Amino acid sequence: MTLRDVRLATGLVVAAFVLCHLGNHALGLVSIEAMEAARPWIMGIWHVIPGQIVLYGALITHMALGLHALVRRRTLRVPWWEAAQLILGLAVPYLLLTHIVNTRMTRVLAGIDIDYVYELSALWVVDPWVRAQQITLVLLVWGHLALGLHFWLRLKTWYRAALPVAAVLYVLVPTLALLGFAQGGMRLAAVEAEAPGTAKAVLAKGKPADPEAAALRLFLKNNLAYLYLALVGAGLVFVLARPSAWRGGYTVRYGAGAQARGRIGMSVLEVSRAAGLPHMSVCGGRARCTTCRVRIIASSSELPEPNADEARALARIAAPTDIRLACQLRPDDDVELLPLLNPTLVPLSRPGADLQFGDERTVTILFVDLRGSSRLAEQHLPFDVVFILNAFLEEMAQAVSTTQGHYSNFTGDGLMALFGLTGNARDGARRALDAAAAMLARLDDLNIRMTGEFGEALKIGIGIHTGVAIVGRLGPPGAPFLTALGDTVNTAARLESLTKETGAPALVSSTTLQAAGLAADDMAVRSFDIRGRVGTVAAVPLDRAGLQQVAARSLA
Ligand code: FES
Repeated sequence: MTLRDVRLATGLVVAAFVLCHLGNHALGLVSIEAMEAARPWIMGIWHVIPGQIVLYGALITHMALGLHALVRRRTLRVPWWEAAQLILGLAVPYLLLTHIVNTRMTRVLAGIDIDYVYELSALWVVDPWVRAQQITLVLLVWGHLALGLHFWLRLKTWYRAALPVAAVLYVLVPTLALLGFAQGGMRLAAVEAEAPGTAKAVLAKGKPADPEAAALRLFLKNNLAYLYLALVGAGLVFVLARPSAWRGGYTVRYGAGAQARGRIGMSVLEVSRAAGLPHMSVCGGRARCTTCRVRIIASSSELPEPNADEARALARIAAPTDIRLACQLRPDDDVELLPLLNPTLVPLSRPGADLQFGDERTVTILFVDLRGSSRLAEQHLPFDVVFILNAFLEEMAQAVSTTQGHYSNFTGDGLMALFGLTGNARDGARRALDAAAAMLARLDDLNIRMTGEFGEALKIGIGIHTGVAIVGRLGPPGAPFLTALGDTVNTAARLESLTKETGAPALVSSTTLQAAGLAADDMAVRSFDIRGRVGTVAAVPLDRAGLQQVAARSLA
């Protein structure tokens, strides 16, 4: 688990609390009694000791990791959404800490239950300034939460489908909460107008009887937020004037084209961003997508070893040693490199899609490869080889298109096809199985024609795997092609190559069979090591009859 995972997990805990808290506030639209009656049910879990340990542990950890992420930055030049989330996140504790002292700390120090009458008296009735602060706090917290959730989930297919609903919730939740808060506050303000001093009498209960506890409460109330501000200020000063800035910088040369200079400690991605050079980074520099990867051409001194996040991501794609992630690589000296993905990568057309991003989808990938193509080239005239290969590729492409797949790229003597770009994952897996069966059937027909003319029966290997991949258009301007990247693609390619060892023409992963709605119980499932992947992959070797059977069952 990386620090980012911890930050995300603790953020989700806090988000769960915020949802409960705001949901409870929204009941103010009904009455203060309704808020109070629902409080034990909605907030009860956060008031018991284990709930408080989890909540405050998560809150403190999340804030500390936010500050840690701030001081680790080498530049404050980041995409707008990251900057907005950072500013909101840094602003929240300033108001939140005082709120916690007024509620949770008061509950502990004064030994009283902070009910809605107390809370609304303190936050709405007695001081309009506190009221404005409270409303601002809700907006800051919600803005930080919504941005964090959105940019965490934006690559998930299900989230994009649910985006209209999510957008409504993003607006509705804080609106209802603030309306409930205002409605409850106005009711108590009316009581105060009729009987002045009521609110102050309620709040008097919050003053601890013990003078030391009272002094501590007052000190925290008056100073905690300023202490936090001092901490953030120190962090910002550290970022802007960190010692590394005095140790000079390094130059990044992007192949034969542009170059940019960065301070020691900045990542290559930060240097690209700071120089305004487009650089693909689908996950926003979190070592999750590998789209920022670069090929190192030369470096003036040895590059630092990949950190744990980078090593894990590079292993996932079985990257050679000259490939590094620009978002994690922080060179100490000049470096020449080549970004591998075109930053203008265009995703599948989708209304409202941001052209900068690829599209994360669950797809089934099929690789087919002609066996013995080098021997073919040695034993036949080049014209014959071209004829045979074209005939073979045409049949394979036909098998893909008749099963509504999409051939992505030809690999010389084979091709890669994507299934499930439209429809659901189950459709994709079924169609891929159908396509594989069609390929073997077409190959048999082709062999009947070929053996007469060339005396050679063609053999193929097919690998099929289903999973999440980044799908997008790659290639030079004017001639982009639709393809997929990621672990799923590598696994499918490796399964295809493993058919050389199994002897069966196709190797289908259990994940694909499950996605197609088939139980692999009665099949000969085997485990395979996949280079660059942790753990093994379960897959079933299938011949033509087996594939036809499986394809028919999946489509039944
Ligand atoms: S930007 Fe996603 S891994 Fe670097």
